[in-house]
Amino acid sequence: MSAKYAVFGQPVAHSKSPQIHQAFAAQRSQTLNYERLGPQEDEFESAVETFFATGGLGANVTLPFKERAYAMCEVRTERAEQAQAVNTLWVENGQLHGDNTDGAGLLGDITRNLNWKLINKRILVVGAGGAVRGILGCLLTAGAQEVVITNRTFERAEELAQQFGIRAVALDALTDEAPFHIIINGTSASLAGASLPLPITILASNAYCYDMMYGEEPTPFMQWAQAQGADVSDGLGMLVQQAAESFYRWHGWRPATVALLKTMRDSSIETSV
Ligand code: ATR
Repeated sequence: MSAKYAVFGQPVAHSKSPQIHQAFAAQRSQTLNYERLGPQEDEFESAVETFFATGGLGANVTLPFKERAYAMCEVRTERAEQAQAVNTLWVENGQLHGDNTDGAGLLGDITRNLNWKLINKRILVVGAGGAVRGILGCLLTAGAQEVVITNRTFERAEELAQQFGIRAVALDALTDEAPFHIIINGTSASLAGASLPLPITILASNAYCYDMMYGEEPTPFMQWAQAQGADVSDGLGMLVQQAAESFYRWHGWRPATVALLKTMRDSSIETSV
């Protein structure tokens, strides 16, 4: 049985995880067997079991399996519990362990790569799906003055707000809000090329706007923010940082990320998830 790693997803063909993890390993002149696995919908659990039974040491999990990976785990980190989703799996003492590194990935990208300051800032998070659930716990540790959540379907925002002890505001009530210093788009609207109905009054001067999605072109949300004079970023750095957190879990050392992120941007490799 050879040591191996993998990412589980469906579709998974365009996942950058093998390239990222192999680049991390190369920083210590190591090579890594890291493959993409795309089981059928009803075969995810058995595929994970087979993977770990045949030498698998660590797996990443992406859409649409993160909640099912969470359900499979016998031991979960606190941040995985908060997210109710798992993107990092490993076996320890014969038990399947799960972690969620998405929030740490977002926070790492914002504070270390982009150097945006969150302390005492007002932050607006747009969206209330799994992606937002995965990052809220971490975001709330960053020392912001307030984190507010809004969503097209207000009830979903209210539900998350209640779980995390924050305030939910309906999209059409945002005009009554004081401006925000940082806006994070955690919706999947950008995937569909859709813009968000956000009033420009919510942007503080010198605001920072982060889209957790990424693509070849700036997303509609980034274009909207840029047109208002905000600093913007897509979510490619979050992808690299969350991978670094998973890598640390499995290998016990923290890879460097800045140079790799720059290489990925410069080479404009395919940018689908
Ligand atoms: P994920 O796991 O990627 O978060 P999800 O649970 O389907 O996926 O959530 C998608 C999020 O994007 C939701 O907040 C969704 O809003 P609704 O709760 O109202 O569905 C949001 N979203 C998707 N398309 C959108 C659009 N065109 N405009 C605004 N919000 C959108």
